Amino acid sequence: MYKKLILLLVFCSVISMQLSATTGVNMEDEPASLEANKLCFSCHANSIYQYENEFTGKIDRKAMNPNFIYDTADFYRGVHRHFACTDCHSPDYESFPHASELRLEEMYQCIDCHGGDPTYAQFNFEAIEEEFHKSVHSTRHDESFNCWMCHNPHSYRTMTHGNNKISEIVEYHNQTCISCHDNYSVKFQRISDTLKPALEIIHEFLPNFELHFSAVRCIECHTGSKDTMWVAHNILPKENAVKKCVECHSNSTMLISKLYKYQNIEARKNRGTFNAVLLNEAYVIGANRNIYLNIVSAILFGLTLIGVAVHVFFRIKKK
Ligand code: HEC
Ligand code: HEC
Ligand code: HEC
Ligand code: HEC
Ligand code: HEC
Ligand code: HEC
Ligand code: HEC
Repeated sequence: MYKKLILLLVFCSVISMQLSATTGVNMEDEPASLEANKLCFSCHANSIYQYENEFTGKIDRKAMNPNFIYDTADFYRGVHRHFACTDCHSPDYESFPHASELRLEEMYQCIDCHGGDPTYAQFNFEAIEEEFHKSVHSTRHDESFNCWMCHNPHSYRTMTHGNNKISEIVEYHNQTCISCHDNYSVKFQRISDTLKPALEIIHEFLPNFELHFSAVRCIECHTGSKDTMWVAHNILPKENAVKKCVECHSNSTMLISKLYKYQNIEARKNRGTFNAVLLNEAYVIGANRNIYLNIVSAILFGLTLIGVAVHVFFRIKKK
């Protein structure tokens, strides 16, 4: 009990501390290519684009293919926010209509830019590349199923590093998988002939499937446990997925050794040990809701202590 009271006091004092992000990309300054990208965004950020028809000399207005429309705010929130579109795409895209041979342009892969670079060592690119090539997505498809399938080139952010809440991390990660695996995804059917079963039917064995999907990452159950990695990439065949409830619903759960463990290491780095210990408690599955009760009981205990002290004080005075 005492420990909790001390933790509570420490918690109150550190909660106001400024938390610092660990990402290396400058997120404050104006994006470096804001001006250069205006041309591309003038068409690719809108559902209607216009251009001067070179034969008639008139301004034509047309509907943009919805797959080619990007949100500027999302782009400038991403890790590649300082890029010009033409850093990745050919500068020939500046003229419109775009030349048809541009469609065949070869795109850079993550590893072309990030491989072997110590600046990005904390992200484990090489290990991720290796894991990905063992995953079902890679082994069952040709190289058109590549890193960009999940890492949207026009909006990808890293959520795991920095100070995001577990619930936000879980949502962002799972959304990546759901964008393809949800019932209405065209993206999935474009790649695969197999019929896509609905997620809620496949996961019927989970009592509250929606709660689970908002509280745990898909990869917690669908990858081999390798706790040297923040984001495991070797999606295993479905036969190997975690089905046993006790893997998570017990005291020494695997969750604590995966995402949650790393969150704690980060938390310790950023916020000091005590807060991390407190958070640690919040990560015990099922203990979440009790944390407030714990705090209330710690306060009650504190009040009781004061009560006893006052009582003792007057008893001594009366003598
Ligand atoms: C005048 C409007 C307009 C401008 C400006 C424009 N685009 Fe496009 N872009 C389009 C349209 C419309 C398409 C749909 C396919 C087509 O008609 O070529 C397209 C298609 C594309 C494609 C996909 C090609 C394919 O079929 O796979 C890429 C990549 C692209 N644009 C990049 C750019 C970049 C980079 C810029 C800026 C340097 C840019 N675009 C500027 C209108 C525009
Ligand atoms: C970090 C590199 C990168 C940057 C920066 C980038 N793109 Fe792309 N873009 C790609 C890749 C890679 C693809 C192919 C995606 C795929 O294979 O799914 C692509 C595809 C596209 C497509 C075709 C989409 C499709 O579904 O085929 C368009 C249009 C496009 N980009 C426009 C832009 C515009 C406009 C910008 C600037 C605002 C931009 N891109 C900036 C890497 C980039
Ligand atoms: C054309 C080269 C290029 C490609 C391709 C590329 N990146 Fe990057 N990436 C960079 C550069 C350069 C930066 C640093 C940008 C900055 O500091 O503003 C960066 C930044 C990042 C960061 C943030 C690093 C940090 O310190 O915060 C992550 C994460 C990242 N990229 C992931 C990816 C992933 C995942 C892919 C593939 C899906 C990819 N990148 C493809 C060049 C590239
Ligand atoms: C099946 C989907 C999928 C594929 C394919 C995929 N990734 Fe990821 N990756 C994710 C998700 C989800 C995250 C978590 C988002 C985040 O917080 O960064 C992630 C995170 C990352 C990170 C950040 C790790 C960290 O420590 O924060 C890197 C780097 C990365 N992926 C590289 C790659 C590379 C390189 C490839 C291709 C060889 C690849 N990914 C293919 C889904 C995928
Ligand atoms: C609690 C663990 C758990 C979580 C969390 C979980 N899954 Fe599963 N998943 C399983 C198990 C176990 C199976 C195998 C079910 C079977 O074969 O009866 C499975 C099967 C699947 C399949 C195979 C479908 C088929 O039969 O072809 C896909 C796809 C899938 N899950 C995607 C996801 C996605 C996407 C998420 C996150 C939104 C997710 N899963 C979250 C445990 C989980
Ligand atoms: C771009 C679309 C796409 C994304 C994004 C994606 N998947 Fe898949 N996934 C597929 C396709 C297509 C298959 C079917 C493979 C096949 O043909 O058997 C598949 C198969 C699977 C399977 C079933 C393997 C089996 O044994 O049948 C699991 C599990 C799975 N994905 C999990 C995930 C998880 C977890 C994520 C997020 C990290 C994810 N997927 C992201 C397209 C995607
Ligand atoms: C990958 C880890 C994981 C696995 C495997 C798992 N769960 Fe959960 N479960 C969770 C998490 C995380 C929560 C949300 C806890 C919270 O919010 O307090 C949860 C919540 C629940 C809840 C709701 C608790 C409540 O008070 O509403 C029930 C019931 C439950 N799980 C039962 C099961 C059963 C039965 C299985 C096996 C079929 C299972 N879980 C497998 C992680 C898991």
